[in-house]
Amino acid sequence: MQIINLGSKEEACHYVANELLKQIISNKKSVLGLATGGTMVRVYEQLVNLIRINELDLNEITTFNLDEYIGIDYDHSESYYTYMHDVLFNHLSTWNEERIHLPNGSAEDLQQETKHYESLLDKEGPIDVQILGIGENGHIGFNEPGTSFESLTSIVDLTESTIEANSRYFEAIEEVPKQAISMGIQSILKAKRIILLAYGPKKADAIRKLMTGEITTDLPASALYNHPNVEIILDNNAYLSED
Ligand code: F6R
Repeated sequence: MQIINLGSKEEACHYVANELLKQIISNKKSVLGLATGGTMVRVYEQLVNLIRINELDLNEITTFNLDEYIGIDYDHSESYYTYMHDVLFNHLSTWNEERIHLPNGSAEDLQQETKHYESLLDKEGPIDVQILGIGENGHIGFNEPGTSFESLTSIVDLTESTIEANSRYFEAIEEVPKQAISMGIQSILKAKRIILLAYGPKKADAIRKLMTGEITTDLPASALYNHPNVEIILDNNAYLSED
């Protein structure tokens, strides 16, 4: 695992956007693993610009998102489907909708949906580059503390701290979904390369725990030590965790 402090949020986001760009340029049939959340908004803004400048055709690019809420439809304003279209997909005309994948959190048979998503990942994958944010409690995807490192795509219960963190996007905390479908830790580790991005003081505690090197299900992100090609990209606020 490489831990790289790039100083500022802007530099850190630019690094991630640029690595996605380089992946797309190196293989027009790349498979990208995408994340949502506040952390990635600036990454996608920069990626849209970079793709425009380079006039890249995305028609053969496949994407898989990590997770989607259960209990709200794709077209809900806070669904991750809507987020991805608002911040990335709708800004570039050459994405191929058929190659864009998010779990369907309003599927009639949710168990079946989890199996379907994992088998799609196996069929279309492996993911070339998986980008990740990190929860304040160390979650990756929506794999909360205690999740087995063997987990595949599944239905997960969100913890109080995650519901609280996500409530900033909803009118009331009661409206925040309590469950999601998430790629599991093992599903994430199938990617060829993983880049985790964390910036801001709220992530400092999780990053400090990660940097102890202890591998424990109490800190889901520590599973990344079991992968041979991981970068942790930080700004000063997430890295300088002592003060
Ligand atoms: C999002 C995801 C989550 C977020 C994490 C950080 O698809 O899987 O693990 O990356 O909760 O969220 P933000 O970026 O909002 O702090």
